[in-house]
Amino acid sequence: MKKSEAKERIEELRAEIEDHNYRYYVLEDPVITDREYDELLAELEELEGEYPEFQSENSPTQRVGASPAEEFESAEHSQPMLSLSNAFEEEGVLDFGDRVKRELGLDGDVTYLSEPKLDGLAVEVIYENGELTKGLTRGDGVTGEVVTRNIKTIRSIPLKLRTNGGEPPRLLEVRGEVYMGKDSFREMNERRAKEGKDLFANPRNAAAGSLRQLDPKVTARRPLDAFFYDVGEIGGVELNSQEELLDYLPSLGLRVNPYTRKCIGIGEAIDYFRDIEERREEIPYEIDGIVIKVNDFDLRDLLGTKTRSPRWALAYKFPPERARTKVLDIEVGVGRTGALTPVAVLDPVEVKGATISRATLHNQDEIDEKGIRIGDEVIIQRAGDVIPEVIKPVKGERDGSEEKFKLPDRCPVCGEPVKRPRGEAIHRCVNISCPARVKESIKHFASKGAADVDGLGDKLVEQFVDEGLVESIPDLYRLSKEEISDLERMGEKSAENLLESLEESKEITFSRLLYALGIRHVGEHLARVLESEYTDFDDLEEANREELEEINEIGPEVAESIVNFFSNDRNLDLIRELEEVGVRYERPERETKETLAGQKFVFTGRLENYTRAEAQDLVERSGGRATSSVSSATDFLVAGQSPGSKYDRAREEGVTILTEDEFEEMVGVG
Ligand code: IVH
Repeated sequence: MKKSEAKERIEELRAEIEDHNYRYYVLEDPVITDREYDELLAELEELEGEYPEFQSENSPTQRVGASPAEEFESAEHSQPMLSLSNAFEEEGVLDFGDRVKRELGLDGDVTYLSEPKLDGLAVEVIYENGELTKGLTRGDGVTGEVVTRNIKTIRSIPLKLRTNGGEPPRLLEVRGEVYMGKDSFREMNERRAKEGKDLFANPRNAAAGSLRQLDPKVTARRPLDAFFYDVGEIGGVELNSQEELLDYLPSLGLRVNPYTRKCIGIGEAIDYFRDIEERREEIPYEIDGIVIKVNDFDLRDLLGTKTRSPRWALAYKFPPERARTKVLDIEVGVGRTGALTPVAVLDPVEVKGATISRATLHNQDEIDEKGIRIGDEVIIQRAGDVIPEVIKPVKGERDGSEEKFKLPDRCPVCGEPVKRPRGEAIHRCVNISCPARVKESIKHFASKGAADVDGLGDKLVEQFVDEGLVESIPDLYRLSKEEISDLERMGEKSAENLLESLEESKEITFSRLLYALGIRHVGEHLARVLESEYTDFDDLEEANREELEEINEIGPEVAESIVNFFSNDRNLDLIRELEEVGVRYERPERETKETLAGQKFVFTGRLENYTRAEAQDLVERSGGRATSSVSSATDFLVAGQSPGSKYDRAREEGVTILTEDEFEEMVGVG
């Protein structure tokens, strides 16, 4: 065979084998026998062996797995992979439906796309010009592990996108769930039992364990599969809704779930949930509920996202799993705000694959209302990823040896008095320097979304506090190299690294510092909201409740918590001390142009160069206001492609209509 012929045959075989993979794994409709398939693969392997110059990473022969890696690299997702808000009851779903309608200002029904919530692990697979170039786990949503070699062993994931003669998308970051089917899981565990190997607790753990194997050959032997349901960045293709996405992905050879359904109005989504719940057994892989998503992408942009989850989607979960066990003891933990939390120590019991040995009892009132005693047999419940809870005691099982429990009136950590503020259910340690409180607040301060002090983990914080080296957050910045390296398990190098991370953490944005301070109810998202309204701490210190409550998203409870925080001298001292030790917060660069001062903008249709949020941000940075609906007060309507009804409304109201180009010119970026 001539070299050029070999090359041609290799390419032909690759295309043919991938086509059979697609028919077998995606369409579930094979047209050749396993034996014929193996023959094609053997021929390809032989040719590639003979002509190594034609070897390619995306050849089907490479699916069997490359050589093991030392560790996984991590990589950032170009757009964060968000999680979902949950509902366990119909009421929460109805509330979600109401909120969506209210925020969109719609009277009629919203169209949703509902899908099973797959119980596997989320991944992102990146295709560039149709070729699979990268596979990532979701990780913490911002950064994931690079598992490309392992992803490639999953036969239902195409190495090359199908294009039917057309052009593939320039870039496609497609997201979905890798899972192991119920039957495959059972068979694999049976095999492992025979081989005397440890068993996997459930299909999700098995899938996660298999995908996160350093040796791709191991992954290749595990029966993994995948469904896709979302995209990150996508270049060169325009999609307007989930429905279009779910049509588009299979055309590229990517599997989408067959049980998805379009639902007009939230009522239909609830019907769908009941339907799926009834069919849960017949579905050949594990699901833990459904996901309800607003179909239209423009509407999604309008609804926006919170820090970790979109406001346009909701996970409606099946009722949680319960189990019975015994309360061996009740321990008391002290949190960052001094809150004393009773925790039940349980006789370990398995609930849906996880061993539960502790469960929160929330507070004294809960214990009293439920009547839980030490020694009781109790029913516990575990819902999704939520912390396990004790539901109720089985009173009929009592033999009189059970003991009632009362929270101590002195802090179990520092011995200072415990108080329960009037009207609150929580007992708190009053000592602001209580080591337990200090530890928790420092851990929070150092955490990722906050000051993000690399290398300052929970254990180290505990050591610092226990050794008396750190009594407050600013003390961190007063640590010397000797003090750090003298600690157990810390060498000079780690001390240097930590000092360097601390130094780096001194430069921080206003919103991160606000979040890092641990003000009750002020999470990452609210901290950013506050940052956009206030210039610095002095400014915020002067804010009163009424003023704060006027800000969208800030309710009375949050406003009160902020005012309380800034009226406490200790907190003001803390901020001053942080400044003294060199912490410098800065606000993100915002242009203070006032070119659009007071002008009101509304957007409709899809813009070429901006997401809705980016365009709105541009307006606001130039001093204008972006609102969601057209009224006589609107100054400009910016119309992108396929504008909606706002366009007609704007014409009726005599509002000036701008193209995207004209808009860019106005904000000075065109
Ligand atoms: S959509 C921004 N659809 O649920 C929305 N997620 O809690 C992105 N999941 O990490 C997620 N099935 O692992 C979506 N049909 C489905 C899903 C699904 C399972 C998982 C996914 C994600 C988690 C979010």
